[in-house]
Amino acid sequence: MCGIVGYVGHKSVMDILLDGLEQLEYRGYDSSGVAVMCEDEIKVYKAVGKLNNLREELQKHRGEFEKATMGIGHIRWATHGAPTVLNAHPHTCTCGNLVIVHNGIIENYKELREALSKEGCIFRSQTDTEVVAHLVAKKYAQTKDLAAAVREAAKEIEGAYALCVMHNDCKQTLVITKRNAPLLVGIGENEFFAASDVPAIIKHTKKAVYLSDNQIAVLTPEKMVLTDANGQEIKPKIEVLPWEPVALSKMGYKHYMLKEIHEQPDVIRNILVGKLHAPDEDIILNEVKLTKEHLKNLNRIQIIACGTSLHAAMIGKYVIESYCGIAVDVEASSEYIYRRNVTDEHTLVIGVSQSGETADTLTAIKQAKAKGSHILIITNRPDSAMAREADSLVPVNAGIEVSVAATKSYTAQLMAFYLLALYMAEIKASASKEELANLKTELMLLPQKIEQILANTDSIQKCARIYSSTKDFIFVARGINYPTALEGALKLKEISYINATGYPAGELKHGPIAMLDETMPVLSILMKGIVYEKLLSNSEEAKARNARMIALTNSKDAKLDDLFENIIRVPDVDELFSPLVAIVPLQLLAYYIAEFLGKDVDQPRNLAKSVTVE
Ligand code: F6R
Repeated sequence: MCGIVGYVGHKSVMDILLDGLEQLEYRGYDSSGVAVMCEDEIKVYKAVGKLNNLREELQKHRGEFEKATMGIGHIRWATHGAPTVLNAHPHTCTCGNLVIVHNGIIENYKELREALSKEGCIFRSQTDTEVVAHLVAKKYAQTKDLAAAVREAAKEIEGAYALCVMHNDCKQTLVITKRNAPLLVGIGENEFFAASDVPAIIKHTKKAVYLSDNQIAVLTPEKMVLTDANGQEIKPKIEVLPWEPVALSKMGYKHYMLKEIHEQPDVIRNILVGKLHAPDEDIILNEVKLTKEHLKNLNRIQIIACGTSLHAAMIGKYVIESYCGIAVDVEASSEYIYRRNVTDEHTLVIGVSQSGETADTLTAIKQAKAKGSHILIITNRPDSAMAREADSLVPVNAGIEVSVAATKSYTAQLMAFYLLALYMAEIKASASKEELANLKTELMLLPQKIEQILANTDSIQKCARIYSSTKDFIFVARGINYPTALEGALKLKEISYINATGYPAGELKHGPIAMLDETMPVLSILMKGIVYEKLLSNSEEAKARNARMIALTNSKDAKLDDLFENIIRVPDVDELFSPLVAIVPLQLLAYYIAEFLGKDVDQPRNLAKSVTVE
């Protein structure tokens, strides 16, 4: 979490920093700040709240920084200390000559703070970051070399960081480094950009270098000097970023979330390109390196993920177990990493992550890799830290997802699981050719079905109006759609702040049914298939407790009209693929309710899109 940007070159720096921070707002948005090298010294400006507050603050100081061509900026998601001006970055050393911005967490900050305080450093904030400013300043006093100071300080820091550092003595030099947090350098004509992520720089350049852990880059307008932790110079590996700036526009939609929901049919089409040509042809997953031999030796699969990606993983388990005959465990990454899990070379470990950066999932993957497991990553960011750890990769091609609430990336993750399961079933011959061809035919029809839902949202909007004043909301389902209930509830709670919960419907009578009365909406995800009748009975039980019943269904069954107050209908689909069709109305329901309540849909409170802290 948190986003950092830096620039050194010949252009006016402030607009570059502010624009970059705007593109990184998805990483956090509780306060922000910039430091720029003005004629005689560095000046720091900060504000609490959204970036607009910083823009307003800067209006008061316009004359001070108009000519500045070097600076650093930060957008914060608070970890240590409340979102206040004092805790906002950039942070300075005691004399104010050195400033830094930081993304990550300094784990030994308490010890460092105590030691540095004893040496006379004056701390002004409650953050872990401030210790780094004091520590680098101390090393600079000893070495008079900013890169050496950063290198020496890094030896004493434990934790994760991406850092940009400036000093009053070095009027045209930015020093940056990282460990377990993303940082890249954009290369322009006599100018360099530093950023936590591509969107901050893509308008300016497509040429970039991703820093590896412990590398230090010294950036001046003329050149970049890259060194390792020992100060040895390294030749930078320049990559061309496969991104288009246009991807960051709302394209006429009111919110990114709505745009991203509407992109889902194309996301499905895109992921199929090059992977599935025709129902009677094999699936092609070029970056999956699992051989027949490998699959034969697998005892089980573990899937690790967080949040929405975890829900996709739960559906992945269902699909893989159904068609590949391999036992699958699914676990939240944050749980996986703090127990003695049984993972070995006979376990395939699949990490699922939109961002490819989530700290818990990244740690889990590294742990499993150390135990000899083959690591397969399903991610929307083939340039991410997780992708770099992968033995096999399934890129999901959803395009950049700006809204904090994941929608199209979830659909793409589900598609990745369907393709992977069918691909493994083909290799293992664990399903008949005919069955696989039928499934592939269905898979190829999905975009049109989702388009039908998006073209007729009246019943969803009606439900949103009716239920927007509710305090609680229950989603129930069974079988493959139980994770859909969890995901529907997650979408609603994260953007509307309504207390929403998903349950396996068979569990209602084991406790949750006690909550039902005439004020409680219960939405049943009633998709035709093996659990349809069972779920219908569970819905009857809820209705008997006076709950306000809503159905999301692909059934035309007349008895639903008596049982349910509101019905949202979706096109018919094979049960295996029903999660893809069922999730879209639930995303829209959450969206319309949040919109109706006037919430900040794209940037809900307390959240950040990329969770790079444990
Ligand atoms: C919810 C949401 C989060 C993420 C979770 C994992 O809408 O976006 O729950 O799914 O933080 O993030 P990734 O997938 O980037 O690892």
